[in-house]
Amino acid sequence: MRKILVTWALPYANGPLHLGHILEAIQADIWVRWQKLQGNSCIFVCGDDAHGTPIMLSAQKQGISPEDLVAKIKDQHANDYNDFIIGFDNFYTTHSPENRALATEIFLRLKQNDDIEVREIEQAYDPIAKMFLPDRFVKGTCPRCKAENQYGDSCEVCGATYSPIDLINPVSAISGSTPIQKTSVHYFFRLEKYADFLKKWAEGGALQAEILHKLNEWFVIGLMQWDISRDAPYFGFEIPDAPGKYFYVWLDAPIGYMASFKNFCERTGLDFNSYWQNESTTELYHFVGKDIIYFHALFWPAMLQAANFRKPTAIFTHGFLTINGQKMSKSRGTFITAKDYLSKLNPEHLRYYFAAKLNSSIEDLDLNIVDYTQRVNSDLVGKVINIASRCAKFINSNFAHKLSAELIAPEIFQEFADALPIIHTHYQNLNYHNAVRQIMQLADRANQFIDNKKPWALAKISATDPEVQKICTLGLNLFRQLMIYLKPILPKVTLEVEEFLNIGPLTLADINKPLLNHTINEFKPLLQRVAEDQAKLLITNTGV
Ligand code: 2FM
Ligand code: ZN
Repeated sequence: MRKILVTWALPYANGPLHLGHILEAIQADIWVRWQKLQGNSCIFVCGDDAHGTPIMLSAQKQGISPEDLVAKIKDQHANDYNDFIIGFDNFYTTHSPENRALATEIFLRLKQNDDIEVREIEQAYDPIAKMFLPDRFVKGTCPRCKAENQYGDSCEVCGATYSPIDLINPVSAISGSTPIQKTSVHYFFRLEKYADFLKKWAEGGALQAEILHKLNEWFVIGLMQWDISRDAPYFGFEIPDAPGKYFYVWLDAPIGYMASFKNFCERTGLDFNSYWQNESTTELYHFVGKDIIYFHALFWPAMLQAANFRKPTAIFTHGFLTINGQKMSKSRGTFITAKDYLSKLNPEHLRYYFAAKLNSSIEDLDLNIVDYTQRVNSDLVGKVINIASRCAKFINSNFAHKLSAELIAPEIFQEFADALPIIHTHYQNLNYHNAVRQIMQLADRANQFIDNKKPWALAKISATDPEVQKICTLGLNLFRQLMIYLKPILPKVTLEVEEFLNIGPLTLADINKPLLNHTINEFKPLLQRVAEDQAKLLITNTGV
């Protein structure tokens, strides 16, 4: 049995989850469920990313403390993930005693290694709000193309990157005043010391090829020191022996993975160290989006190495979610929150659709509403669920709910069982779209068999013809095999199928054990079709 720890990226605790967050959680959840189905131990943790200036300001605006804000949002996020049937073991927060202790410990180890440099830098400062300004909180005219109202780090019109000081007519987004330049002492992590270690780690198989390629570009440019401190006022953890200096949110965010797991260990008695000190007996995987790969594939492993903790076994990176081919955008009405979706459509439909499209590349994934409707209706409901409704009818009314004692065509049952290794490889390698394609081919095969045998025609001649019972018994057995393969994607439907078939939780071992001479329950519709009109309503919704 493998011992695995899996995380997905901690969402910021200052806004609702959108379908991009849900895509990542579903990708990770399917992988975790596949591990569990094989009998592996797989702990799945996440939590909210609670620190930083935007969260502090957002709380101020709402007239509440940042602690109250992040506690409220954390509950909303956990509920949304739950509603999408993300089977996490712990959903915690970076604003926690465990995270404070771990962040402090890691920082002190870095300091001990002489990995921390302390020096003065100049930064934009808002003299009215009396605070240093993150780049995103300074706006002005782009020095290159002269586009107005651009952020202090880059221009959305011409793509130029610069520092806020280069903007023409800069203003603070907080008070509207003109920022001044002010010096302050900052703490830096000497990332460049870990360049050789990182090169070696990156080549050890922990990254997808496209990500490795990106890292190699960064290695050529050269790694720079990383500024890990921010000045008060800031919502975060104060740096030991540095009054008024706080850890930058990105320092304690990934440590939040450890903290969430630690909190889980405290509740359950699991051994924290065997996961974080030991690379040979446990595995660690992080699911993240391609925009935060710099943090996860450079800063994070370097920090772990410096502080003497284990490194991730792999980072699984995915692309962005687009909606009908376009970037999610509030003004276009394509910013879909988790709650918008849930108020109109079924979470398992989305799980299925995402699975049918997900692969191991970092390409973007498009949610196309027409395609979504067709795939759910014609493949999932029309092909898979339909097998059960076609066969249950005869077994229940004509044979008193009883399956036959033998399989009429064991070779078809065997064919379905033989697909396990290939489907396993697809799940394991994050190529869920191939797994789903394979499963749908099997569903076609099952339907073909029923169509050829025409149990309805035989039943018309003699309702209790044993042939009818045998055909439908095989049909239901094939359906059961399909549901084993689909279990990680459709956890709720699977529960209802188990209830309908009157069996315990489906396992991989069931794949070659037919269900014979067995009494099943009444068939209830397991999954409804999507109404296309309902699905289209998603797009006109303007989100928050
Ligand atoms: O980009 C983000 O949304 C961050 N909150 C992700 C943090 S992931 C981890 F490092 F905590
Ligand atoms: Zn520009």
